[in-house]
Amino acid sequence: MSARILDGVPLADAIRAEVGAEVQRHRAGGRAPGLAVVIVGENPASQVYVRAKGKACEEAGMHSETVRLPEAVTEAELLATVERLNRDPRIDGFLVQLPLPKHINGERVLNAVDPAKDVDGFHPVNVGKLSIGDPTALKPATPFGVQQMLIRSGIETRGANAVILGRSNIVGKPMASLLIQQGEGGDATVTICHSKSRDLPGICRTADILIVAIGRPEFVTADMVRPGATVIDVGINRVDDPSQPKGYRIVGDVAYGPVSEVAGAITPVPGGVGRMTIAMLLQNTLQAFEQAGGR
Ligand code: GUN
Repeated sequence: MSARILDGVPLADAIRAEVGAEVQRHRAGGRAPGLAVVIVGENPASQVYVRAKGKACEEAGMHSETVRLPEAVTEAELLATVERLNRDPRIDGFLVQLPLPKHINGERVLNAVDPAKDVDGFHPVNVGKLSIGDPTALKPATPFGVQQMLIRSGIETRGANAVILGRSNIVGKPMASLLIQQGEGGDATVTICHSKSRDLPGICRTADILIVAIGRPEFVTADMVRPGATVIDVGINRVDDPSQPKGYRIVGDVAYGPVSEVAGAITPVPGGVGRMTIAMLLQNTLQAFEQAGGR
């Protein structure tokens, strides 16, 4: 049996249209919400993501700024940029694209972002709010997008065994916080596992919903998936492929072909979770704008 494909494109388009309609309403009443993205250096993947974020922002009718800083920028200069954006009344939300160069202390930079403008949801104040279920939390866009995907695809999380493979601060941990909250898209029984977990395949096979974010190409194989389970692939990996014009192709953390023969539903890569992430970033910017009183 072949799995149902959870296509992120129409879901993300719907969210972007909803956000766009709200943005138009705010524009008519005063000003548009504004998002800034700070990028340091020339990391090619980051360049692609940042361009996509700026374009999506403009398409939603928001004010958009991209701040490009050289690889050699000092931590003090980056912190000064963060402070300027914290104070900028046209900017409701901003993020510093990761990874940062090694000479910069990323934790110090993330902690300097005003939690009210922290549309990545990485500041400890937002991490804490998400953990206690405070609805004013700004939620990390990728796990927030996964949760929306589950809700909008009619996949029941209530009472489900959700297994998260990967314990990062960007995906794994906030994903767990979202799925254990009470209410829609929550009420799951959550297990987080990682590279040190004993019997990883056995834990994965307990999953009704398996969410994979470990950054290893095609790591999850068909024998790790319970027949009929929902498999959400958060991975985006470049693997060498001389048969492709660019010399590489993009694969997820899940061996898509074999796993789709076993799973009940599965997200493709690309075109799955990645599309949701940018939509949720726009949603977060709108939330930050509204929580600041739209001023
Ligand atoms: N790099 C990879 N994912 C992300 C993300 O969600 N936010 C930021 N700022 N950088 C990233």
